[in-house]
Amino acid sequence: MGMNPSLDRLAREQPIAWGILGTGNVAQLFASDLARVPDARFLAIGSRSKERARIFGQKFSVPNQHGSYRELANDPRVQAVYIATPASAHKENILLCLNSGKARSRGGHHFGSPKKGISDGGHVDSLCAINGQSP
Ligand SMILES: NC(=O)c1ccc[n+]([C@@H]2O[C@H](COP(=O)([O-])OP(=O)(O)OC[C@H]3O[C@@H](n4cnc5c(N)ncnc54)[C@H](OP(=O)(O)O)[C@@H]3O)[C@@H](O)[C@H]2O)c1
Repeated sequence: MGMNPSLDRLAREQPIAWGILGTGNVAQLFASDLARVPDARFLAIGSRSKERARIFGQKFSVPNQHGSYRELANDPRVQAVYIATPASAHKENILLCLNSGKARSRGGHHFGSPKKGISDGGHVDSLCAINGQSP
């Protein structure tokens, strides 16, 4: 997919199973783009509202619709998470995923988030440390 070398490596073996946190504008853009990527599967949507997850899931034919971010973070089928929430929520959302207990299964969860949010050096260092990676 060209975003991340470890995702590229995983995708050569099988399509990456993606989850998206949040159901706003950027989530919709990312979901539309995912549908055009052959080595990606949009497997799960997570929203603070079960109803928004259901509506979004129906629109993009997402098989797993979670009514909380924690449920998505704990979904063992999800390999990569795209954080599509406001920047102020990114650190909390990423920590939730990393601390879900599933973060390092099958090569680890991987994270994407739009623009800033985790661009602060200290945040990136601590998040990488939690995930057992070098920044
Ligand atoms: N819009 C753009 O063109 C654009 C471009 C580049 C980057 N970005 C960045 O992408 C991120 C999301 O932007 P967006 O335009 O998609 O925003 P948005 O339409 O408001 O959607 C954000 C989503 O995040 C979830 N969320 C979690 N905590 C929230 C809170 N406290 N307040 C509001 N929503 C919350 C909501 O989903 P649930 O209610 O379903 O949980 C909401 O639908 C931002 O960091 C923004 O800077 C946006």
